[in-house]
Order: sequence, then structure tokens, then C-alpha cells
Amino acid sequence: MTKEKFTVTAALPYANGPLHLGHVAGVYLPSDIFVRFLRMNNHDVAFICGSDEHGAAITLRAKKEGITPEEIVERYNGIIGKAFNDFGISFDIFHRTSSEIHHETAQEFFKVLDNKRQFTKETSEQYYDEEYNQFLADRYITGTCPSCKDDGAYGDQCEKCGSALSPTDLINPKSTLSGNTPVMRTTSHWYLPMQNHEQWLKEWVNDGVLDGVKQHDASKWRNQVVGQCMSWIDGGLRPRAMTRDLDWGVKVPVKGSDGKVLYVWLDAPIGYISATKQWAIDNNKNWKDYWTGDRKLVHFIGKDNIVFHAIIFPILLKAHGDLILPDNVPAYAFLNLEGDKFSTSRNWAVWLHEYIERYPDKIDELKYVLTSIAPETKDSEFTWKEYQTRINSELADILGNFVNRALVLTQKYYDGKVPALGELTDYDSDVIAQINAIPGKISALSYKYKFREAQAEAMNLARLGNKYLADMEPWKLVKTDPVRVETIMNIALQITANLSIVLQPFLPETAEKLSEFLGYKTSSWGHAGNIDLISVGHLTNKPSILFQKIEDSLVETEIEKLEATKTVETIFDPQKEDASFDEFTKMDIRLGTILEAEKVKKADKLLKLIVDTGLDTRTIVSGIAKHYSPEEVVGKTVTVLMNLPPRKIRGVESQGMILMAEDANGNLSFMSPEKAFEAGCGIH
Ligand code: 2FM
Ligand code: ZN
Repeated sequence: MTKEKFTVTAALPYANGPLHLGHVAGVYLPSDIFVRFLRMNNHDVAFICGSDEHGAAITLRAKKEGITPEEIVERYNGIIGKAFNDFGISFDIFHRTSSEIHHETAQEFFKVLDNKRQFTKETSEQYYDEEYNQFLADRYITGTCPSCKDDGAYGDQCEKCGSALSPTDLINPKSTLSGNTPVMRTTSHWYLPMQNHEQWLKEWVNDGVLDGVKQHDASKWRNQVVGQCMSWIDGGLRPRAMTRDLDWGVKVPVKGSDGKVLYVWLDAPIGYISATKQWAIDNNKNWKDYWTGDRKLVHFIGKDNIVFHAIIFPILLKAHGDLILPDNVPAYAFLNLEGDKFSTSRNWAVWLHEYIERYPDKIDELKYVLTSIAPETKDSEFTWKEYQTRINSELADILGNFVNRALVLTQKYYDGKVPALGELTDYDSDVIAQINAIPGKISALSYKYKFREAQAEAMNLARLGNKYLADMEPWKLVKTDPVRVETIMNIALQITANLSIVLQPFLPETAEKLSEFLGYKTSSWGHAGNIDLISVGHLTNKPSILFQKIEDSLVETEIEKLEATKTVETIFDPQKEDASFDEFTKMDIRLGTILEAEKVKKADKLLKLIVDTGLDTRTIVSGIAKHYSPEEVVGKTVTVLMNLPPRKIRGVESQGMILMAEDANGNLSFMSPEKAFEAGCGIH
């Protein structure tokens, strides 16, 4: 295999929340498998990622949490970066788009395109939120998708059907900030005239040909990627704004463009370049070597990113000049969870960092399951039951069982020394032929980005070994034909050694354990397929159990955990619309002590309370009679809303309100201070 050069990127995750298993299965794990496989084949590889720290995804999250965008990206860059590290994703660099080098690189890129007159500047009417004094683009505006009619489409994209949109395409648009229907205001922006690029894009996407030169093998592109691209191109590309009226992002590097930043989809993909630059600086390399010449650029992404990586970024790269275009854009469909979509807002997710915290010794187990069900061509589903079944009946019963038998019997019969390979039976020869063939099959599938099948082939090697031992029954034969058993055990150990190679891309920790058991290690794929990897007399080590079986209790706990989030969702009201700080501070809330209580006549829900508020003693009528008797409330310290205008309830004037907590079943509870604070203390 000739040595090739690859720059592999994994979509920069927005630093607005932690990673869930859907992200892992559909981008980070397959890209990591690919890179590990390439490195074992001695290709020259750079594996680039980082966090995407600009755009409305970040600012809206910051607004929701009431903190600054800086605080949001700091927090999630940390959580995401740690999770990748703990999970063993082998990026050469995990960088960030808030870095200085990124701002400089993105600005420089913009200037090159601007100087080459690749943008047009246009003044137009755009949606504007008068309450927030802000133009509304991207995720700041939502509405109904004109294509699929989903009503959660954003101003730049419908995540349901993948269509690239402009705010004015949305039916019934609403501001995400205020919920109001926006008005129109005039503003100026730099646009990318995408329509001028339709011709070459068609040829490049369909045939892999650019300016008459073959660039990539179009037959290796996934059907859904080519299909989506062609349907957009055939539908007619339109000019797309490349700048935004916002203050969070990379500033437009042109005089007189105050208050404008680069569109996040111009900014984030350039993050791949700036991350490469940083990595090159850190490692004494030249970044351009990774973005020019006969190098293959491969972008691993989710399907909602296709248009940005297979159309917009290639246009930008070509317009820039000197830089390579992607060789492939392996895009993944979505992973669902227990019959429903992953959802951050509903907390319907298995978070990677939480999984690692709960099961730090089950990293490869998760990798195995996620690769087995990866949404390569269509949406797929993660269930805890399948997680259990795959681990127990595949990893433990096949791989674990085979390896354990091979090594334990070697200890038992030969004190750990590799026995000699004697005369071969037809069965042996057939098994050896399969050992020879499997690595080639895994390679062919991996170069086609079919890691699900590639991993299944690697498991077929374990399956082959397991069946071989089960059929040969060396534990019985050892009594009658010990010489034959030597050959059987030699072959079983060679299979184990082969497994320590071919499992490396998929299950790196397991492969490492096999190497330790065998006292044999190579990271060169070229060695796989041979049956003389470990020599006769070589001393192997005592094995330990590779995979613990997953108990039913784990599955039950995880499902209960998920179901609990559902209960919360259905029972509690969603968060209310924002109240301003001023509105909040207008409310006078303080502690009061109930001095007297009696039932209100002819009203079975009401108690008339006399409350010491620290300022005065007042009467408050409260709807708590079904939950508290008059006797039990006297003496309690409670929370009082003081400045509600007095009103008459069943003939009694109520001068305020007692604030109560209400649970899912409608039970009420006073909100009493945790410390013995006195009546009159303010609540802020
Ligand atoms: O969809 C997303 O999560 C984006 N943050 C992906 C960006 S990929 C690249 F362009 F940086
Ligand atoms: Zn749609």
C-alpha cells in the first residue's frame, strides 16, 4: 500500500453543551477509527478538531443561563475536551475558535476573498427584533420550514430536512429572543454569490473532477451526500450572507464594519485550518503541507452539516485558491435513543462525560456498541438492552471467551510458552486462509468508510477462533493426542496476536490488553494476516477477564434514569418567558411568621392567616386548607409576597400571598428558610 497523506477533520462541536452518544457515534468515533487505521498503515495523518465557540448556538445558551458567552465556551470547551481525552479520541489537536490564531486566520481568509472580489456587498431588508434591538439571523429566528413544513426550522437551516435557509424563507417567523414577530430593517452585508459556482460544483460532486482534473473518487462518496448536494445545486444556489450584525464572533476585518462579525459557517470550517496552524507551530511543521498538494482532506460530519462542508466550504476554499478541496465528506445520519431523538433541552440523552464517570472501565464496550449501530447510511438507535446484548453475547461470549481459552490453556499445558505448529489438517488450512483474508477485508471496508462492517470483520476473526477451539476441543484431545493440541494452540495464539492488531482501530484498550497478555505488540497493520507473529517458545502471560458481563440492573438503572427525565418533562410546566431583572426586583418577598390561623367559612380550601411580616401584622387568605390544618401552621415561618394589591376573598381582605412549592401530584409545601431567620428578612 502506498503511503498517502491525509488531513482528517471531525466537525467542531459547538461549545454550548456536553457531547452525547449521538455525536460520538456519528462523527468522533468513526473519524478516530479511520485515523487509527491510517496511522497503522503508515499514512501521514493530521487529525484535527476543536470547539466551535461562536455563533448563535453559544450566545443563546449564554442568555438562557444568564451568563456571558465567554463563560459558556470556557465551561463546555473544558467538559468536551476532557470527555474526548478520557474516551481516547486521538486528535492531534483539539483547538478552539476563540483563540487569537483563529481570529487572525479567519480574518485573513476573509480578506483574501474580499480582495479577489469573491463577495458582493448588498444592502437589504432583514428581520429585526425591536424589543432586543437586534437583527435576527440563524438561530435567532425560527419558523416553519418551506420544504418539509417542520415548525422548528432556524434562520439558516432546517435541521429536520437539512435544507439551507435564509430567514426570509421561513413561514411565520418569530424572534428566538422575544418570541415576537420581527419587523424589517435595512442593513448591509457581504454575500457569497453561490450561484456563480453551480457549474463546477456539479462536476466536482458528481464525478470528482475539478477544472478537468480528477480530484477524488466520487464513487466513495455516500449516496446521501451526493444526493443532498445535487438537490441543492439543481434547486438553484443563491447568494448567501457571510457576515452578521452581532458582537460575538470574529470581527469583519474591513474598515467601517463595526458591529459585524463573520457568519459562523465561514468562521468554523476555517477553524480546521487555524487548528492545523497551531498544531504545526507546536510540532515544528509547516501547516500548508496539510492543506495543499496531493493530500486527502476528509471531513467527518453529521448530516445536518452536509451543505456547509460539501458546498459552501469548498466554494470558499476554491475561491481562496492554493488550498485543497475535500476528498470525501463522510456524513452520518442521526442516532436515536430508546425510541426518541436525542434532545438536549429535554435531557433525553446519554452524556459522554457522565457515561465515562459512571463506567470508566467500559470505554471499549461503548465504542464497540456504537460502531456496531453507527448511523452510516440511515438513522439508527441506541438502547441499553442492545448495549447489554452486544457486550454479553459478542464481546464477552465470543472475543473474551476465545482469548481467555487460548491463553489459559497455554498456561495450563505449556506454562505459557507458545507450542510448535505441526502438521496441518484441511480444517487448519481453511482457518489459516481466513486469517490471511480478514485484514484485507477490514482495510477495503475502512477505506470506504464502512466501519460497521469493518468492525464486524474484525469480530469474525474472534468468531473464527472461538469456533475453532470449540470444534477442536483441545481440552479433550489433550489426553489422547497432545502433539495435535500443540498445533491447535499455536493457531489459536496466532489468531489472538492477529486480534491484537486488527482490533486496534476499534477497541484500542482491548487490543493493548491482548498485547500485554501475549507479550507481543505491533502497531503495523502490515503484520496482520500472518500466522507466525509469535514464535515457538515465546512466553505469554496469564490473562485476566477482558469483558465483564452487563447485569440487568445496569440496564434497569439507566432506563429508569431516562424515564425520570420524561416524567419531569410531562409533569412540570416548561420554563416561563423571561422576566426582566427590574420586574423581579419590583416584587417584595420576605419571611413572615404565622401567628394565628382559622378556616374561612363556606370555603373548604381557604385558611385565614394572621402573619407577622416584620413590618406589620397582616391578614392573608391562603388556599392551603386541604394541605394544612390551622393548628399545624401556627408558628411556621413562611415566604410572603408582600406587595400584591389587597383583594377580597370570600369577604376577607387578603394583604399579600403565601408562596408555596407544588409537586407533581399537586401537594403543597411552605417554603421555609433552612436557617432560623426571623420574620421580615428579605428574599432576593
Ligand atoms: O453543527 C455543529 O455542531 C457545528 N458546530 C459544526 C461545525 S463543523 C466546522 F465547520 F467547524
Ligand atoms: Zn425542513
